[in-house]
Amino acid sequence: MGPASALAAQAARPAPAATEAAADPAALRRGEQVYSRCVACHAIEANRTGPQHCGLFGRSAGTAPGYDAYSPAMRDAKIVWDDRSLDRFLQAPTEFLPGTTMGYAGVKDARERAELIAWLRVATRAGKACSVAR
Ligand code: HEC
Repeated sequence: MGPASALAAQAARPAPAATEAAADPAALRRGEQVYSRCVACHAIEANRTGPQHCGLFGRSAGTAPGYDAYSPAMRDAKIVWDDRSLDRFLQAPTEFLPGTTMGYAGVKDARERAELIAWLRVATRAGKACSVAR
């Protein structure tokens, strides 16, 4: 895609609200609270029922180090995790990725999703160690 059409695509699809939430400490704190719905299965730096989230942004779906329980759907998905893909997946996991074994209905509220994603970006920043423990 050339620069002109890339710009047009950006204009047609405005950046998600996570960008705004990232600049607001109160929104980040609310995002951390939303993550409490995930910790039954996830941790940032340890594999549990679900894969660890360290290094999530920019990582291909299905590639968390040491996590060997991915569904074929997740393993074979051609998804790179970023604000947009996370927004769509977390809204309705099984609709966005049929066959996923993530047993969670989704975060339906758009603002909550944006705040969660903004917090995740900070909490999973590259450079944080991923655990290789099972
Ligand atoms: C009931 C357990 C459970 C809950 C609750 C849960 N997840 Fe998951 N999650 C999983 C499992 C299992 C997978 C792997 C799914 C697969 O392979 O299809 C997964 C996968 C993911 C992935 C893909 C990671 C990768 O390595 O590609 C992301 C992102 C994710 N979850 C985020 C969340 C967030 C954010 C929440 C809270 C809003 C959440 N999950 C709640 C179990 C859960």
